[in-house]
Amino acid sequence: MDHQIAPSILNSDFLNLSKVIEMLNSSDADLIHLDIMDGVFVPNLTFGFPVIKQIKNAAKKPLDVHLMIVEPERYIQRFREAGADILTVHYEACKDLKQCLKDIRSLGMKASVSLKPATDVSVLEPYLPYLDMVLIMTVEPGYGGQSFIEASYEKVRMLKEMISKAGCPTLIEVDGGVGKNNLLKLKESGVDVFVVGTSIFQAEDPPMMIRELKDL
Ligand code: DX5
Ligand code: ZN
Repeated sequence: MDHQIAPSILNSDFLNLSKVIEMLNSSDADLIHLDIMDGVFVPNLTFGFPVIKQIKNAAKKPLDVHLMIVEPERYIQRFREAGADILTVHYEACKDLKQCLKDIRSLGMKASVSLKPATDVSVLEPYLPYLDMVLIMTVEPGYGGQSFIEASYEKVRMLKEMISKAGCPTLIEVDGGVGKNNLLKLKESGVDVFVVGTSIFQAEDPPMMIRELKDL
């Protein structure tokens, strides 16, 4: 399967969000990645339901919603109503991960779980049948524009092996510090979906950068 590009709008021009979404609609992006932070799970705050709803109204690509919040189970239905197509919760934030993933799927969304850099991939083994995707954080969650953690390659390889052994169709997504310099090596390690923030939005020509990342 060809790899997918999921631009993260975290560091885009929020005053011109409709233009950002139009640009992504007409680009080679596969998904639109939205980072939801609560100031508790991570030391930063972003945006919530009203903004997601507006983005959904304008977006022609599926919304890949990454929750960096405590107790995500409280809001699953509301993220569905706001327009999430893929919902990612953090392993470290869930009390009952299996139930949470089942609830996400039962509302018609793809279920995904994210691991912080320090969390071992082996914790996910019992959950693979309930997972459409796993998001490996390749920086500490909280901010865009950080440097990629090199130990992530090995983590992706281990996860890929686990998924292959289990015979599950679970996709692997990476998020943080991803760009032209490391995408290919990550793809060779087993990554299917690439979240890219600053490498796209600080490029001179963002749609061209998306195309270049897609063509790698
Ligand atoms: C960080 C977010 C990322 C971030 C990626 O916590 O989850 O999605 O926006 O941005 P870059 O590509 O700049 O690291
Ligand atoms: Zn993210």
